[in-house]
Amino acid sequence: MKTTLKRQLLVRFVAVILTTGVVSCVIGTVLINKWTMGQAEDRVGNSLNAAREVINHRLENIESTVRFASSTALVRDALPDKDRSRVRGYLEDLRKKGGLDTLDLADEKGTVLLRSSNPGVAGDIALNDETVQKALSSRATASSIEVVPYGLIRKEGETLASQCAIHRDGPAKEEQSGATPVMVLMSASPVFQKNGIMIGVVYGGEVLNRNNEIVDRIRDILYRNEKYRGKDLGVATIFLNNVRIATNSRNEDGTRAIGTTLSKEVFEKVLRRGGRWVGKAQVVHDWYIMSYEPIRNVHNDIVGFLSVGMLERMFADMRKETLTIFFGITLLGVVLSIFIASLLSDTIVKPIDSLVQASHRISQGDFSVIVTPRSKNEIGELEATFNLMASSLEARNLEIKRLTERHMARSEKLASIGRLAAGIAHEINNPLTSVLTFSSLLLRKADESQREKLDIIVKETTRCGEIVRELLNFARQSEPKKEACNINKIIVSALSLTKNQLKVSDSRINTAVELQELPPSMADRDQLLEVFINMVINALDAMPQGGDLTTKTRLLEDGKTIEITVSDTGQGIPEEDLEKIFEPFFTTKEAGKGTGLGLAVSYGIIEAHKGSIDVKSEVGKGTTFIITLPVE
Ligand SMILES: Nc1ncnc2c1ncn2[C@@H]1O[C@H](COP(=O)(O)OP(=O)(O)OP(=O)(O)O)[C@@H](O)[C@H]1O
Ligand SMILES: [Mg+2]
Repeated sequence: MKTTLKRQLLVRFVAVILTTGVVSCVIGTVLINKWTMGQAEDRVGNSLNAAREVINHRLENIESTVRFASSTALVRDALPDKDRSRVRGYLEDLRKKGGLDTLDLADEKGTVLLRSSNPGVAGDIALNDETVQKALSSRATASSIEVVPYGLIRKEGETLASQCAIHRDGPAKEEQSGATPVMVLMSASPVFQKNGIMIGVVYGGEVLNRNNEIVDRIRDILYRNEKYRGKDLGVATIFLNNVRIATNSRNEDGTRAIGTTLSKEVFEKVLRRGGRWVGKAQVVHDWYIMSYEPIRNVHNDIVGFLSVGMLERMFADMRKETLTIFFGITLLGVVLSIFIASLLSDTIVKPIDSLVQASHRISQGDFSVIVTPRSKNEIGELEATFNLMASSLEARNLEIKRLTERHMARSEKLASIGRLAAGIAHEINNPLTSVLTFSSLLLRKADESQREKLDIIVKETTRCGEIVRELLNFARQSEPKKEACNINKIIVSALSLTKNQLKVSDSRINTAVELQELPPSMADRDQLLEVFINMVINALDAMPQGGDLTTKTRLLEDGKTIEITVSDTGQGIPEEDLEKIFEPFFTTKEAGKGTGLGLAVSYGIIEAHKGSIDVKSEVGKGTTFIITLPVE
């Protein structure tokens, strides 16, 4: 029983634990995946904001240089008199200090007057430059990101042009020169005379093609040039359409991946979305979590993208590590839970087991078992109750044993005395009959002098005969002649037969009779009458000063037993006599009054009726005889 119960408990515990473990693993994996991906996207998204700030900052820098130049008297004065020699050095100086690639001067119609980086080329129209156009038409400073043809940059000098030339692979060469257009951060600021008449425009810019400085600056701000497993942790790239024009992503040979193109799929996704896009993308060879944001020109058209990314492997490793720790903890939890479950089932099974063993011992008659209660819960209560049950069983068992022993001893004693008495009575009966017959004959013929003595002989012999008859009655223990009779009626008869006795005694006796209706029972009417009469006479004898005689009958709860009680308020029976009163010839009555056979005979009769007879008595208070008889 122990093993199966324990196994059953364990199997259920383990099933619950494993289910919980598996569910938490599944949920944990989903959550951790979501969390690391969210972390990555958040981080990369925030990086994009910082990158945008770097570019805006550069544009502001250009704008303030251009705005400053347009407000100086030197520039204002230089415009009308067409003498540029004085202002040329000044603008070149300003350009270099501001870190600009170009800083030019044009008149109010947009005709280029001076290119500080390439003074030799002038007189063309700067109006194909959109920012200049906007500044002149709005009469205010304008800044924007622009894409200009490569040819226009060449006018700013061959050095700059060769610096930013990007030759794309493949057949699509967009310019005669073979280089892609150029993306520029541009700012233009109109020049006004003191009277408010606009007389020209100062414009300048910074080329983004091959502008490694700006992308490296973005990367350094974001990722401090960190490496992860030998790879750059972060990358920053500026695209013109789908071409990388400035980047710190590397080709296999270690050179910057300038001129390479964005995968068609991502390009279309970002273009279609028109806003920010975050996702996984392969940069040259490695996977990165990338985020892209469109770059728009002055007309709000998308001309390229700004993009930053972080090596995906770092997040993958982070996720792997988190998952490993999580699975480790879950596994540890499962193992620990199973261990605890095993202990727990032990604490449940062990007390039950010891109760089972104790029950086995009790069933084999060993009542001395005691189980030690281990806890204060229901099982502990059960163990305590079990102990209580065991000890009361033991007490009951002892009591039954004692009663049986007493009963057996009494029966044996009565039987042996009975045999002895019967033998003697039988032997005495015949001579006694002769003595009585002859003494009666003699009495009839005797004269006055002998008559008195012979009378005594006849009386005493008659008395002897009665005793012998009673003895024989007791010894014969004749089988009762059973017939259906009403116990209540027999009791009433016994009481009426003893009425004379009642009247004879001069003391006052109160008789009370409480008879419950009883079913008829099979009994020997005469024998029971003898029993009840003896009981009433005994009670009366016990109350020489008067008292109460109460007779009751009732049907016990089991419905199968009739109980008859005869109580008196007489002198009672001393403790030491209680055992002896059922013995033949035990009497406390004066000679000639009692033979001591009444109760002995009654005992035999009741036993033959399969009933019981018991007595309760207290000296000075009274005695109660309790007879039970089965309803048959
Ligand atoms: N109701 C009683 N109150 C006190 N003692 C009793 C009562 N009934 C019986 N006894 C005691 O038990 C003894 C035995 O009673 P039992 O009926 O066997 O014999 P007896 O009455 O003495 O003589 P017998 O009944 O043969 O005439 C009595 O002598 C008496 O001492
Ligand atoms: Mg008697």
